[in-house]
Amino acid sequence: MYGAAMPHPEHPNLQVLEHPLIQDKLARIREIDTEPGFFRKLVGEVAGLMVFQISRDLPTRSVSVATPLEETQAQRLATPVTIVPILRAGIGMADGVSLLMPEARVGHIGLYRDEDSLDPVSYYCKLPEDIGHGPVFLVDPMLATGGSAVAAVEELRAHGCEDIRLVCLVAAPEGVMAVHAADPEVLVFTAALDRTLNDIGYILPGLGDAGDRMFGTR
Ligand code: PRP
Ligand code: URA
Repeated sequence: MYGAAMPHPEHPNLQVLEHPLIQDKLARIREIDTEPGFFRKLVGEVAGLMVFQISRDLPTRSVSVATPLEETQAQRLATPVTIVPILRAGIGMADGVSLLMPEARVGHIGLYRDEDSLDPVSYYCKLPEDIGHGPVFLVDPMLATGGSAVAAVEELRAHGCEDIRLVCLVAAPEGVMAVHAADPEVLVFTAALDRTLNDIGYILPGLGDAGDRMFGTR
């Protein structure tokens, strides 16, 4: 664990980040009347707050810096970090995280769910060549059946990634268990563990279709 929260009692691969600022913003993200611009802003802010909490174990190295007054030793991140949004909705989270870590690389994995089968369909993948060096923050607001996350994790493993941290806003138990069954080493961080999925694979109570709400497409 990365010192953010205790593992969930029923899901050893899950940590629910219950910080009041995260919960306050999540409440407004869920609200049906929140407009796309504000929705995107809040999603970015929550993602930043979450990654701030789960990056506290990242290694640092001592460097010499010149302040306006004298030379001193300071700490810089000692490892490359990669943010990987699952398109589309992960983009809003990646934007918030990269504000905190402007030096982080951003890879992209394009997946959408087939509306009938709910299986993930892959349409894009562009990752840094050396993505296996350093942690990967895989970001997607919704973990529903888990199909998209499992497919993204498989892609990252195929590219040599070892330290994969899946960060979502709202998770269904079904998705958390699917990720655990596919790859028990992947830790899942969420702002909320919701009740279940409905009969068309949407999270209840959830927040609706994250991509459509973020980009105003429906
Ligand atoms: C949403 C969401 C996840 C996926 C979760 O994307 O952003 O990627 O569904 O569902 P799952 O856990 O059942 O796979 P969607 O397929 O709607 O694509 P979009 O972001 O392009 O709208
Ligand atoms: N994808 C979404 O955007 N929302 C859900 O509730 C489930 C999958």
